[in-house]
Amino acid sequence: MRITKTLVVFAAVSALFSVQALASGDNGNAANGKTIFEQGKGAVPACNSCHGAEGLGDDSMGTPRLAGQGYVFIVKQLSDFANDKRMDTTMFTMNTNAKGLSEEDRRDVAAYVSSLDSPDTASDMKQVKELGNTVGVRYLGKALAQYGAPERDVPACHSCHGFNTRGAAPIYPRLANQRYVYLVNQLKKWRDGSRANDLMGQMRKVAKNLSDDDIYNVAAFLTSAPLTTVGNGRLPPAPHTSH
Ligand code: HEC
Ligand code: HEC
Repeated sequence: MRITKTLVVFAAVSALFSVQALASGDNGNAANGKTIFEQGKGAVPACNSCHGAEGLGDDSMGTPRLAGQGYVFIVKQLSDFANDKRMDTTMFTMNTNAKGLSEEDRRDVAAYVSSLDSPDTASDMKQVKELGNTVGVRYLGKALAQYGAPERDVPACHSCHGFNTRGAAPIYPRLANQRYVYLVNQLKKWRDGSRANDLMGQMRKVAKNLSDDDIYNVAAFLTSAPLTTVGNGRLPPAPHTSH
């Protein structure tokens, strides 16, 4: 029993350690990343064909915004796709795309997307509705993001993802201004366990107590969450420069 526990702790610590090693290591060549993003490489199609010219994502395809996302987080997702630790069940292409790139290419493309401007713009909720999606109630989602629902064992999203979920590098991604459809898809995947690449099961624990309405409500807030408060425009260092 004691040995098993020690092994589990060891595995968790070494997983964390490799994320930190990545954080202080090679930062990728953004110029090569830009070429991959715009032109693809070998059999891997150009990333902008699905993630948009500026990397802002697309609700009609269910693709996420990549622009301004933390470098270490993007590298981790690409390596999880390459190793089938995370499965793309939306367009079924990200696993092949990531496998088609070398580790260095993945770092390069991550360096490029994390350096892109990520304007404070939300999904177009009229379009989201026209695409046939259920749209949540923003103010209810705001309360969940900021305070959680302690009576149902749901922690505040802020407690890990930072103020208004603007991201806490290297581990916690930015959710603010992410695409609505992508947010809803991922929360459902964490809840049913079809996405399980989170360190120590952190997100699965959060999502298992969310109702469908919670998911729609919180996504409606997150896609339009401001990164700063009124009267205080101070932003923490961008995720890609803070390691
Ligand atoms: C054919 C469309 C398509 C192409 C081309 C594509 N992607 Fe994706 N990508 C997706 C979809 C769909 C998802 C969401 C998968 C899911 O729902 O789990 C995604 C997810 C991702 C994620 C996860 C982001 C996050 O926030 O967790 C990363 C990183 C990513 N793509 C990077 C890339 C890169 C880099 C390229 C180019 C080499 C690329 N993608 C090309 C469709 C595409
Ligand atoms: C205990 C810490 C913790 C809390 C609290 C938390 N998260 Fe997360 N979340 C994580 C971690 C860690 C990841 C990244 C997992 C990975 O490496 O893929 C993540 C990833 C996500 C993603 C996927 C982002 C992407 O780009 O792929 C979404 C969506 C998300 N969280 C939503 C939420 C929401 C909504 C809440 C509040 C209801 C919340 N999280 C609360 C730890 C947390």
